[in-house]
Amino acid sequence: MRDLSRILLLTAGVLSGFLISGSRSEAQTPSDLDWLVPNESLKKPFAEQTPIIFVSRGQNRKEWDSLPKYWNEAKAEVVNPATGQKVTRTVIKIKLPLGLNLAPPVPAENPMTYARWELGKKLYFDAILCSDLTVSCATCHSPKNGYTDGLKVSTGIGGQKGGMSAPPVLNSAYNRQQFWDGRAASLEEQAQGPPQNPIEMFDGKGNAWNEVVKRVRAKPEYVKLFEKEFGHVPTRDSVAKAIATYERTVLVGNSLFDRAEATMRKRVEDEEGNKFEIQPKDFEAVLKAAVTAKDEHALKALSPAPEKLDIPETAKSLDRGRILYFGKARCATCHVGENLTDYAYHNLGVGVKDGKLPAGDLGRFGSLPTGHKDPTLFGAFKTPPLRGLLSTKPYMHDGSEDTLEKVVDFYDKGGNANEFLDPKMRDFEAEQKIIKSGAKPKEVTVWTRDGKPVVPLKLNLTVDEKKDLVLFLRALESDPVDATVADPKWFK
Ligand code: HEC
Ligand code: HEC
Repeated sequence: MRDLSRILLLTAGVLSGFLISGSRSEAQTPSDLDWLVPNESLKKPFAEQTPIIFVSRGQNRKEWDSLPKYWNEAKAEVVNPATGQKVTRTVIKIKLPLGLNLAPPVPAENPMTYARWELGKKLYFDAILCSDLTVSCATCHSPKNGYTDGLKVSTGIGGQKGGMSAPPVLNSAYNRQQFWDGRAASLEEQAQGPPQNPIEMFDGKGNAWNEVVKRVRAKPEYVKLFEKEFGHVPTRDSVAKAIATYERTVLVGNSLFDRAEATMRKRVEDEEGNKFEIQPKDFEAVLKAAVTAKDEHALKALSPAPEKLDIPETAKSLDRGRILYFGKARCATCHVGENLTDYAYHNLGVGVKDGKLPAGDLGRFGSLPTGHKDPTLFGAFKTPPLRGLLSTKPYMHDGSEDTLEKVVDFYDKGGNANEFLDPKMRDFEAEQKIIKSGAKPKEVTVWTRDGKPVVPLKLNLTVDEKKDLVLFLRALESDPVDATVADPKWFK
């Protein structure tokens, strides 16, 4: 069963990888279905255009504090660059969830506006992108399931099973590249993948994107919205831009860990201290506040029976887990920053059997274009963010670990030895000793092609330490996506 799903996984990965990179490099006949130059007179007047801006706690604390909720409308006086005249218009200010201290990057050619977002949201939930109108983006990345499908492998067009578990699109605005192997450079590029993927949304008849654009152009309500926002009828370029704009607002934060961090900062400032480190009492304060606020989502992440939670003990365990995460267990060497990822690629040996990577499973190395192949990225996959672990089960790119306990056991033994195991996963001291001694110890089962030993770094975590670490991982569970974004029916 596992082998079958591996083959499907590879096929899906290779196919969609091929299609995406193929669409970049193939000589295409330029078509007005791909892109159009805007006719400015079709667009909404400047004063009626509504930009969306992100307000982050890290970059603008005062304004962040003043905003009551995620989605806020305000008036702003701006200069119309075309006329030099001042106008007052509506802006939407998105209050970034606690923990996201930097605003996600937005490409200059795809500025965020309400109309673009509205179009993107409609398209995201509309099966119009799929040849037989059966599957939408939300089929596999549903707000009801934390923006994934809650399945081991996704089901696409014609009930076909793909080989990969759909990742949540949560906070994907921050990703440097998209997909486990990074084969899409942006959300705009990624959004062009599924509609032409024969396992996800495409029946294989004709040119996938030409057919998508023709279907969207056949709907007068879409055409009107596209003309007002983009100054032309729908194109592949503008459909991708709209979907990416919506995805950029699918943001989560405010985990118990984020709250403990903020509580600690306030405490240290109040005490006029200078030791900015969380203590058990900070976790205790946020747990008490969560109980008072009846915050089921955060508390259920920790325990199936939150009413029975022993707060002081839980707080101590969480703090021990935090210390392990940033210390002995070395998780923060890769899972670090606002999204608990370095956005980089590492070979942990996931899927390795007898020291060998699965054939064809080249990871990031495989998706890099020829001329840019980086041998240190052989079999390396993207470090996933850890903000939605309750819905991303089963874990790893191939869904090979079904519980957090098993993930921790996997790291405890140093991952799976293979020739390309990431340097951060290796016991250099042991390797050097072996090299110096010239011995060939039996315990070392994997040697590089130039005869060097590969020794995975064991963490030597105790049973109790593993429990504390898993509890801490559960405290990284973020709040659900705001209803303005997650509710398919909500529009301003
Ligand atoms: C049939 C199920 C399916 C459909 C439909 C689908 N996806 Fe996905 N999506 C997946 C799977 C599986 C992956 C992981 C594939 C990989 O990494 O190689 C993925 C990956 C992604 C990612 C990358 C996330 C990351 O962290 O790298 C984004 C973003 C995304 N999808 C958005 C969309 C959008 C937008 C649509 C609609 C245009 C869509 N998906 C349609 C299953 C689906
Ligand atoms: C060398 C970098 C590195 C270190 C150290 C590291 N991780 Fe990871 N982590 C990754 C990568 C890369 C993946 C994806 C691997 C894959 O699927 O091939 C991953 C996957 C995961 C996942 C699965 C998430 C999902 O949505 O599927 C969890 C959970 C996780 N790591 C937790 C931890 C914990 C806990 C530690 C510390 C014990 C840790 N990681 C240490 C890089 C790292």
